[in-house]
Amino acid sequence: MIPSIEWTSNKVKMIDQTQLPHKLQFLEFDDFRDVAKAIKVMNIRGAPVIGVAAAMGVALATIEYKNLPKEKFLTKMEEAANIIRSTRPTASNLFWAVDRVWKIISTYPDDPKNLSELVVEEAKIMAQEDINVNKNIGKNGATLLKDGDVVLTHCNAGSLATVQYGTALAPVRAAIEEGKKIRVIADETRPRLQGARLTAYELQYDNIPVNVISDTSSGLLMSLGKINKVIVGTDRVTSDAVFNKIGTYLVALAAKDNNIPFYVAAPSSTLSLNETVKDVTIEQRDSSEVSNILGKVQIIPNGVECINYAFDITPFRLVSAIITEDGIFSPKELLAKYK
Ligand code: MRU
Repeated sequence: MIPSIEWTSNKVKMIDQTQLPHKLQFLEFDDFRDVAKAIKVMNIRGAPVIGVAAAMGVALATIEYKNLPKEKFLTKMEEAANIIRSTRPTASNLFWAVDRVWKIISTYPDDPKNLSELVVEEAKIMAQEDINVNKNIGKNGATLLKDGDVVLTHCNAGSLATVQYGTALAPVRAAIEEGKKIRVIADETRPRLQGARLTAYELQYDNIPVNVISDTSSGLLMSLGKINKVIVGTDRVTSDAVFNKIGTYLVALAAKDNNIPFYVAAPSSTLSLNETVKDVTIEQRDSSEVSNILGKVQIIPNGVECINYAFDITPFRLVSAIITEDGIFSPKELLAKYK
């Protein structure tokens, strides 16, 4: 797949994921407010790539404000960082990324011009690092896959959710590069249909065999022996659980009941191991995402409100292992390594 996001001539260029799978279209922004909006309305989505988009958004703000006197520059930059931070509450990567570029801003506040160049450079480095991290997740995770495996995934934790290569789909890509035959089953992922629209799109684009199922089918397919492994991505890993797209918890329960390994692919930028589930805000999105298919056909009676949590919580007891860029860890080993 082509990169989901790029920094080109002081602009942020991204694939407009709301147009997929029908049109491969790009958006280009030179205003951090537009990048923030694109994250909020999900033109770009997926924890790792919204982290990179957030860093690039801060970089655009430094360019806009770099000619201001130091005090004013810092006030404006704080406003910009807050706008970017308030776009989506659950994915750790967004906050991790803003904090990372903010370190540069707080270290060199006396020279906004020079600082702006450093922040732009850092955002570009973060984009490249994301690809390298995902390749390592792939290398590590591929050791868990054997020739002929059918892997279920939920939502989109692929190339589109990252700069390139993906997290949950990285082991699949790496195993295929090693010559193994692997097939993916993608949950459609109501209500935004990231599995049906995005996972199916990017796998087909790269000639990787994929079937789409309705979200309610995975339990049956597991019980029929048609799924060997589950790999999902994550938006945040706390010291007791994994947060990922709504529906992940039910997949994990079904996997446990059918003795199927349930793996979580997580770059270390997603780890928030000093938190527990109580510390995390689960994003609630508009009722209309559930009541109207892709904002169009209404499927419920007028006047009924929907409940629309975007993510759910999978307790560590249901997680077989977590795959990071550094290796494969049981939840206990993960805490020992990173906490
Ligand atoms: O609401 P989204 O589409 O941003 O949710 C994305 C997911 O839940 C992904 O599984 C997660 O961000 C991991 S992506 C590598």
